[in-house]
Amino acid sequence: MPMKHSTYSVIIVGSGIAGLYAAIKLSETVKLPDGILLLTKSQLSESNSRYAQGGIVGVLPENKIDSISLHVSDTIKAGCGLCDFNVVKFVSENSNHAIKDLMKYGVKFDRNDKNEINFTLEGAHSVRRILHVGGDATGYGIEKELVNKVKNEPSIASNITIYEETLATDLLVDSKNNCRGIISYNSATQEYEALYAPVTILATGGTGQIYKYTTNPSVTTGDGIALALRAGAKTKDMEFIQFHPTALSMEDSDSRFLISESVRGEGAKLVNQNGEYFMSEHPQKDLAPRDVVARAIFGQLSKGNKVFLDATLIDVDKIKKRFPNIYKTCLDNGIDVTKDYIPVSPAAHYCMGGIKTEINGKTSIDNLYAIGETACTSLHGANRLASNSLLECVVSAYELVNTLSKKNFTPSQVIDEKIMTTIKKYAAYDENDYDYASDTDLLIQRLKNTMWNNVGIIRTEDSLIEALSDINEIKSKLKCNKEIFRCNSVEEYELRNMLCVAECITSAALERKDSIGAHYRADATNNCLSENETGLEDIPNDTKVVI
Ligand code: FAD
Ligand code: SIN
Repeated sequence: MPMKHSTYSVIIVGSGIAGLYAAIKLSETVKLPDGILLLTKSQLSESNSRYAQGGIVGVLPENKIDSISLHVSDTIKAGCGLCDFNVVKFVSENSNHAIKDLMKYGVKFDRNDKNEINFTLEGAHSVRRILHVGGDATGYGIEKELVNKVKNEPSIASNITIYEETLATDLLVDSKNNCRGIISYNSATQEYEALYAPVTILATGGTGQIYKYTTNPSVTTGDGIALALRAGAKTKDMEFIQFHPTALSMEDSDSRFLISESVRGEGAKLVNQNGEYFMSEHPQKDLAPRDVVARAIFGQLSKGNKVFLDATLIDVDKIKKRFPNIYKTCLDNGIDVTKDYIPVSPAAHYCMGGIKTEINGKTSIDNLYAIGETACTSLHGANRLASNSLLECVVSAYELVNTLSKKNFTPSQVIDEKIMTTIKKYAAYDENDYDYASDTDLLIQRLKNTMWNNVGIIRTEDSLIEALSDINEIKSKLKCNKEIFRCNSVEEYELRNMLCVAECITSAALERKDSIGAHYRADATNNCLSENETGLEDIPNDTKVVI
């Protein structure tokens, strides 16, 4: 079947909060002769964003106890000093505007009886400054309004073409380092398309699925980072993977439902099966930075202890009203959080690193932008402060649209030989090359195990070398990883991307020999961890915690 070719002014890959917000703002403010293509590999509403629970940071003037300098200082402390001060300050200063803009789009942040915004608290925040929607359904509450605008508001929707079930498989970058669009694959029709645009935006989210245990949905396979890496873009901070301390831990399932940090913000405490309150020694107790709490739990698990969240300390009516989804999901799993302890363990949650960008998403490839979790603006440093991610998605998308509003969207120029070669490799394929059944599922499980065991919460040089060797072996079993560009299925494309990202994370972790933030090397000679962190010294270097 001949390949289709289409042209747009802007292509946005990914429909999480970053992609949706960018599409709306672009449609509202920039004149785009060929319109916007918003393309997503699943349904429009499926993304990490949809599952965000705790909330979004807002340093609002009406919150008298808060200030920009306090938020900047909390962010940089949580990030262990590796954040870019100017980026942190910029994001913090723009948070009020971002929140007010979301309200304008119909997002209804929770309020108290006096109609004042209800702020909550999460780890490493020195004051209550996190806004939430529907109690613990912040992502859903924001995304629902943005999807509605993109689909149903005529003045916005008329500029946007939506492709669902369509995977971006490769970037089209010419010999002058200029991104000219993407190749896409529609999983329903099995058709490939060459999509051209003067601007391409990656808003493809994080990498959680490369780990055995993760809070992230199945779409989170690091595709954008892999596409950018294959096209020669720079990445940054890939060794910093955030493990959320408290995912619901059910013995008969690998899937991990998040128990929001704001449950601890509202008074829940971590205990082990002996009732020991093991965070009591830390000055911030249960609300220490995420990496510190995740390691403390890992320390308990590695000693054979079980870890629980005691949410019975919170008033019964409050917990049902404030955390309705958590209450219901736990109940569905036989746990009444008003009476029972919740079994918890850490799970891969967020990628601090990503495609190296400026705050407006500019990458090292011309006319390629990346925003949201797939990007690394250096806001988060070595460990992200809770609820700073949704804020970053909105602020970056806003700045990107500002940048694009100054661009002249002239009709596309001629496609060069390098791009033609890529397209030909997709168009002219030999069916015999694809006459095989690869064990994609098994290979994905193997990669997830390797990453969890060797590139997880605790790493050593030996474990990282073991992971690299296994990644290479898995690669050698994947046919489409060789010269052939096309894969046999969406899962194979995802595995190809997961391998690429896993290799990048592992190599970065090997290079950083000291421990800092979320990157903990048990064999480090120089330990930059907080002096208050204890309990790790007893953990043997080769500990592999199966939870
Ligand atoms: P996503 O929302 O992940 O969207 C990525 C999109 O790209 C998806 O639509 C996906 O289908 C699409 N896509 C990916 N690859 C391709 C491809 N190859 N082709 C086409 N489409 C593709 N952060 C906070 O700040 N506050 C919170 O309270 C919070 N809670 C969280 C709770 C959970 C359970 C999780 C998992 C994360 C949470 N986070 C939170 C983190 C936050 O949700 C994410 O970092 C953020 O939503 C990322 O948004 P995004 O738009 O960059 O990407
Ligand atoms: C949570 O609710 O604990 C998640 C918040 C975040 O990841 O920022």
